[in-house]
Amino acid sequence: MEKADKITGTMAIREVLRMGDPRLLASSEPVTAFGTPELENLLLDMQDTMRHMQGAGLAAPQIGVGLRVIIFGVEQNPRYPDAELVPFTVLVNPQLTALGAEQDEAWEGCLSVPGMRGVVPRYRHLRYTGFDATGQSIDRTVRDFHARVVQHEVDHLDGILYPQRIRDMTQFGFSDALFPGQELPDE
Ligand code: NI
Repeated sequence: MEKADKITGTMAIREVLRMGDPRLLASSEPVTAFGTPELENLLLDMQDTMRHMQGAGLAAPQIGVGLRVIIFGVEQNPRYPDAELVPFTVLVNPQLTALGAEQDEAWEGCLSVPGMRGVVPRYRHLRYTGFDATGQSIDRTVRDFHARVVQHEVDHLDGILYPQRIRDMTQFGFSDALFPGQELPDE
């Protein structure tokens, strides 16, 4: 999958909207038809864009499409040497259920909030359900980093950006000021 960037002729890297654009604050609509060319093309564009920007995830509203579609995944990525691996996943019409009240706090970034990082509380353990591009159901129970990534992406579908979740605004700032000398990904 990391070779996707080398494929020519099919690339469609889309502009990622940045915080301040009202489209990032809207609630997205459920997908009602699976296996369509429209959905396939949306997913290809999302994958090209996410990989080009070396993101851990991307939600359709970030490229201006108000549908409940997210993709995420962290494979061997030199920019995340310490990250747990999360399988590449297409998740349409996701539903999250927190398993227990336990939360933890960790640094997050977002391709729509470039150059910044903040400490965000998230549920540690959750179940998520939804569908893949063809309408096959997905049902997983996950924890920690995988759970965090899904919560971040699903928030985009409800018009929520991670800065809105930060409890301690002293834990929010520019990546290069917070972590001098480290080159961190935006997402
Ligand atoms: Ni994001």
